Amino acid sequence: MSRHVVITGASSGIGRACAEAFAGLGDRLSLGARRADRLAGIASDAFCSQLDVTAADSVAAFVDGAVERHGPIDVLVNNAGLARGVEKIAEGTGEAWREMIETNVLGLLEVTRRVLPQMIERKHGHVVVIGSIAGHKAYPGGGVYCGSKRALQPICEAMRMETLGTGVRVTSVDPGMVETEFSLVRFRGDQPKADQVYDGMRPLVAADVAECVVFAAGRPAHVNLDTILVMPTDQASPFHVHRDGS
Ligand SMILES: NC(=O)c1ccc[n+]([C@@H]2O[C@H](COP(=O)([O-])OP(=O)(O)OC[C@H]3O[C@@H](n4cnc5c(N)ncnc54)[C@H](OP(=O)(O)O)[C@@H]3O)[C@@H](O)[C@H]2O)c1
Repeated sequence: MSRHVVITGASSGIGRACAEAFAGLGDRLSLGARRADRLAGIASDAFCSQLDVTAADSVAAFVDGAVERHGPIDVLVNNAGLARGVEKIAEGTGEAWREMIETNVLGLLEVTRRVLPQMIERKHGHVVVIGSIAGHKAYPGGGVYCGSKRALQPICEAMRMETLGTGVRVTSVDPGMVETEFSLVRFRGDQPKADQVYDGMRPLVAADVAECVVFAAGRPAHVNLDTILVMPTDQASPFHVHRDGS
């Protein structure tokens, strides 16, 4: 039966690939991102709306609009997120730190708290969180991004405990390197620097991660995949990346 799947940050990369994958299964979609113009045409009959997860009003309007259009939410994919810069802590700026924490942690919480009560009430629903290898292993220049992704682990653990007995599922899908606009955003539009990240190695593509999300959401109701850590074969940790010639 068709599910109502809500995806944040569907204008690019992993979010967009998730939208395409769920659309291919005939699910009803609600898609949000700040660049709303990019959402049109991803899937026919999708509810597409401007969404800034860092703005509570925007989140409320998005979730209300989604429910009005497609009814109760079956799957929430908390994907919107970003890394900004590679400055070490001693060189960092509060602006970039705030942007990452407000988007990756507080934004995710704001969306989730708007959706979760409906799921608990219906005794049905699945919250998927896009975490990262960065939440498992820190690296220099990534302290705050890694911290923002690490924070999702206790948030997911607590949600599983808090929803125990309600049938609600919580899954974290944690990828290694995925070639999307992620590095372009991180390096503030510097394309050559972004390209260098994937130089000589084969990263994941967004569709690889979307497959994991769709798989988790497609398990029978009694099966919860807590965490999926999905890495490129060429990457064993943030510090171990095989590159041609290395
Ligand atoms: N690429 C990787 O190597 C990698 C690895 C592990 C985890 N991840 C995680 O995967 C998720 C998706 O990233 P991606 O790789 O697909 O990068 P991406 O291509 O840059 O996509 C990021 C998405 O997040 C949205 N977004 C950012 N800030 C937002 C906000 N305030 N409100 C609403 N939407 C917002 C962007 O849309 P707008 O700009 O249009 O708002 C965009 O659609 C992120 O959580 C990221 O941390 C990525």
